[in-house]
Amino acid sequence: MLRKEQNDLLTQTGAGAPMGELFRRYWLPILLANELPEPDCPPVRVKILSERLVAFRDSEGKLGLIDEFCAHRGVSLWFGRNEEYGLRCPYHGWKFDTSGQCVEVPSEPA
Ligand code: FES
Repeated sequence: MLRKEQNDLLTQTGAGAPMGELFRRYWLPILLANELPEPDCPPVRVKILSERLVAFRDSEGKLGLIDEFCAHRGVSLWFGRNEEYGLRCPYHGWKFDTSGQCVEVPSEPA
């Protein structure tokens, strides 16, 4: 039987945990291609290595995997609209591209 410390070492995969850092060095299959079948299709929630993420396919068919929660007020982007090359937050409308970069803030001028 493992001691608590040994069990934690082997099972905790969050960022900064030893096993989390190990797993982040390898490719991990997390979705089937048909779960994001076409450009601008609905986003999919993904929970892996203790992180909550959202996957989407933008208007060009490019795949994105970004933090599930909006950088502004933390609303889930899973409820967002996938439109015109980005995922738009349903609360205040910030838009994020496939790299997770905020590319549009409707309340601010260009
Ligand atoms: S919470 Fe997402 S834009 Fe404000």
